[in-house]
Amino acid sequence: MRKKIAAGNWKMNLGRDQAVVLTQDIAEGSIPEDVHVILGTPFIYLHELNAMLQDVKGIELAAQNCHQMPSGAYTGEVSASMLKSIGIEYVILGHSERRMYFNESDELLRAKVDIALKEGLKVIFCCGEPLEIREANSQNGYVSRQLVNSLFHLSEADFSNIVIAYEPIWAIGTGKTASAEQAQEMHAFIRALVQEKYSAETAVDLSILYGGSVKSANASELFANPDVDGGLVGGASLDAQGFLSIINAF
Ligand code: 13P
Repeated sequence: MRKKIAAGNWKMNLGRDQAVVLTQDIAEGSIPEDVHVILGTPFIYLHELNAMLQDVKGIELAAQNCHQMPSGAYTGEVSASMLKSIGIEYVILGHSERRMYFNESDELLRAKVDIALKEGLKVIFCCGEPLEIREANSQNGYVSRQLVNSLFHLSEADFSNIVIAYEPIWAIGTGKTASAEQAQEMHAFIRALVQEKYSAETAVDLSILYGGSVKSANASELFANPDVDGGLVGGASLDAQGFLSIINAF
């Protein structure tokens, strides 16, 4: 059966000391046994935080990106195998900020997904439509193209290492959350696509997270939906108490 996941995406925030304190506070907080916590931190903190979390159950780390090539002359980049070599479990790929500011296309993301899985990482793959697409009621076609183009070439075995995060762009950092109904509707649509492409079993096992202005005040309502298996949380994951209450909102 699929996992309940509360994932934080710190983006490009926090100094080293703040990162350590936040991680410590979360690790010392109460985390239900059936909730899987993932912290998506800047690359530079992953190694140290991983050592800190060595004996802590239920918390894993995610990188926020990786390069699509295995190694080589790509100054400033970080490979999937480097992440694996320091014991990192997850990588977030396809975030709308990377698509937007770093021109990451569906094709590039397909290559990143492939190398991440090949190196043994699990992928949190983000999808989601901009406001004008939602206003034209074309969000299903838009999201389905993102998944088909970057994920649906995978074998069923590889697909079992994917978590999908639905993050409508109009809800990210805007304070505007998709309603529980909008989230449920899209998540059910995504699960149906996966069932059609792979199998009922793979669809049932897939964790689908909602992201976009999740906070302690709206997490319970969102997570109560049958196809919403947790959240990918930006701003509200930077505060230990706030994030812990989201972790406890299932
Ligand atoms: P906010 O929670 O700050 O809206 O960010 C969502 C997000 O982009 C998570 O990846």
